[in-house]
Amino acid sequence: MSQTAGGDDPVLPFTPAELAEIEAEAVAAVAAAADLAALEEAERLALGKRSRFSLLYQQLGQLAPAGRKEAGQRLHQLRRRLEDLVDERRSELEAAGRLARLRGDRLDLTEVVGGELAGHLHLVTEVREQLEDIFVGMGYEIAEGPEVETDWYNFEALNIGPDHPARGSTDTFFLELDGAQGESYLLRTQTSPVQIHLLERGRLPIYAVAPGRTYRRDTADATHLPGFHQIEGLVVDHGVTMGDLAGTIETFIRALFGGEVSTRLRPAHFPFTEPSAEFEISCQICAGAGCRTCSMTGWIELGGCGMVHPNVFVATGVDPEEWTGFAFGFGIDRLAIMRHGIADLRSFVENDVRFLSQF
Ligand code: DAH
Repeated sequence: MSQTAGGDDPVLPFTPAELAEIEAEAVAAVAAAADLAALEEAERLALGKRSRFSLLYQQLGQLAPAGRKEAGQRLHQLRRRLEDLVDERRSELEAAGRLARLRGDRLDLTEVVGGELAGHLHLVTEVREQLEDIFVGMGYEIAEGPEVETDWYNFEALNIGPDHPARGSTDTFFLELDGAQGESYLLRTQTSPVQIHLLERGRLPIYAVAPGRTYRRDTADATHLPGFHQIEGLVVDHGVTMGDLAGTIETFIRALFGGEVSTRLRPAHFPFTEPSAEFEISCQICAGAGCRTCSMTGWIELGGCGMVHPNVFVATGVDPEEWTGFAFGFGIDRLAIMRHGIADLRSFVENDVRFLSQF
């Protein structure tokens, strides 16, 4: 116990150095507290009943009034500083605890289970991406078009005249849009309108494929869905021939199915190609011998193709004297069915994990 020098100075039960020491000890203990329990202990040691601080505090009552006031103020200040310090440290520790809990609760959706990814892309997406890879490897660009189209893009510019059956309301979902101003909007029934967008863009030559969703007013059954997927191909260059078309189809089918598949073209009619053909591949189920899937023919029709009709070039401002081209289009869902021997197209949209996880 010491006292300050000077006659009128109040007599205090401690020196400033002693208070500083008590403070420094408490500061160190609070800072070192690694969790809330340790902090409580540090607080008890610094300010609790048996602390050095409390011993000094208890002596206040025995002091002369002048000394009591001054000593009381200093001890109160010290107590407030230490309490603030403890509060601050408590907030820090609580925040760290919350963060640790959040980290612990976090769901790792990329978690690897048993050495394999727990989820995977949908089968249709997988086949679409394989097709994209094959065509990118052949130097094609991947193009995209809107799913909501006007009559012009889905029909008119594709040389599908006003009386063509594909325009009937039985096939097409027509849309009533506010502010349509006489323009008729619809969900595209095919990816062929992307041809029109590509041609209108006017950047020639064109080597492009456009995969995407298509819609028709069909009742879902084993081989139809009202929403399905197609991929469109368009090549426009100088001197493109039907032979280039046949070679391109053969090449990508081989890349997709491997070497054991044959392809053939059969004459057909499409308004936007002339001549037109359907392309077929040897049945993957019976290897061409004939079975129920291929109606005993050994061949399965995959899609349509042909040389771009001059009317399509004219409608989009491309000179048919200078440019020639071919186009093709086919259903991705059907292709996926064939590659994996799936009996019913509806399995693609039922989202039954037992089905999806097989692939
Ligand atoms: N768009 C046609 C359909 O949905 C398929 C098709 C046929 C696309 C011939 C083409 C083509 O590009 O040349 O049935």
